[in-house]
Amino acid sequence: MALVTSTEMFKKAYEGGYAVGAFNVNNMEIVQGITEAAREEKAPLILQVSKGARAYANHTYLVKLVEAAVIECPEIPIVLHLDHGPDFETCKSCIDGGFTSVMIDGSSHSFEDNIALTRKVVEYAHAHGVVVEGELGTLAGVEDDVKVSAADSSYTRPEEVEEFVEKTGVDSLAIAIGTSHGAYKFTPEQCTRNEKGILVPPPLRFDILEEVSRRLPGFPIVLHGSSSVPQNFVKMINENGGKMPDAVGIPEEQLRKAASMSVCKINIDSDLRLAMTGTIREFFVQHPDKFDPREYLKPARANIKEMVRHKIVDVLGCNGKA
Ligand code: G3H
Ligand code: 13P
Ligand code: ZN
Repeated sequence: MALVTSTEMFKKAYEGGYAVGAFNVNNMEIVQGITEAAREEKAPLILQVSKGARAYANHTYLVKLVEAAVIECPEIPIVLHLDHGPDFETCKSCIDGGFTSVMIDGSSHSFEDNIALTRKVVEYAHAHGVVVEGELGTLAGVEDDVKVSAADSSYTRPEEVEEFVEKTGVDSLAIAIGTSHGAYKFTPEQCTRNEKGILVPPPLRFDILEEVSRRLPGFPIVLHGSSSVPQNFVKMINENGGKMPDAVGIPEEQLRKAASMSVCKINIDSDLRLAMTGTIREFFVQHPDKFDPREYLKPARANIKEMVRHKIVDVLGCNGKA
């Protein structure tokens, strides 16, 4: 199967009450770990590339790695998506360069400017058979070189979504309902401790999601910043020389609930980074004499694969849907 757009994927996900995982890729091992899990679980898949990933690994290398995954996994549909496209030029470059989906992130602009920029990208993308994700509302956290403080973040205003979708022609919409980018999503002060002493963040704003869905029936919604920051990997990092205290993420039950609603795409990146970093740190502590990258990248790739399998089966519910 060649690379596909997300149109059919989202239609099936919406009707089936599950979400497709969108995982960020930066190198070969990450591509392999993700795609092996998706192939074994027969799950549709979105591989996404950020501006930072293109700067790190080079556009052509990333496209060719994803094309290799398509050849290796002919049974599953795969989308190649630009994550957080910052401007028209970056989106155009990805559309011209083999991507099947782009995000134009106009969320830092005024409502009117966001509409104008998104509309421009949609016109170019649709003329080339590529789909577009837009964003309304601002997530807190770090993504590429942009850091948004909690004070500067803002929930999506449901009363704006119909006008935005109608005027831009976007194919999916990312909204802000309390998720945020990175591993440090919540401070301990923002959380409460449950009966097991575990820090629990404030619940996502499902009321906003419900109102958005009511206003946009059948329309695919996207959640960014959806890593759950698994504490076993935070512990593994900290026990092997790292310093990541108080990293708290989004509870997986809440993501499962969102996936059963109108959320058709859930973005996960930080959890894969934690799995990779924890595994490599532990390897070096256990094998201080080793220096062959293949030896430490192999268990890191295996743990990325198991993390993605867990997300597909236990969080997204998209196993067997390819
Ligand atoms: O939301 C952003 C993704 O986690 C990508 O991160 O910009 O560091 O590649 P990056
Ligand atoms: P996390 O940092 O929660 O993994 O979010 C990733 C993301 O939203 C990519 O666009
Ligand atoms: Zn994001």
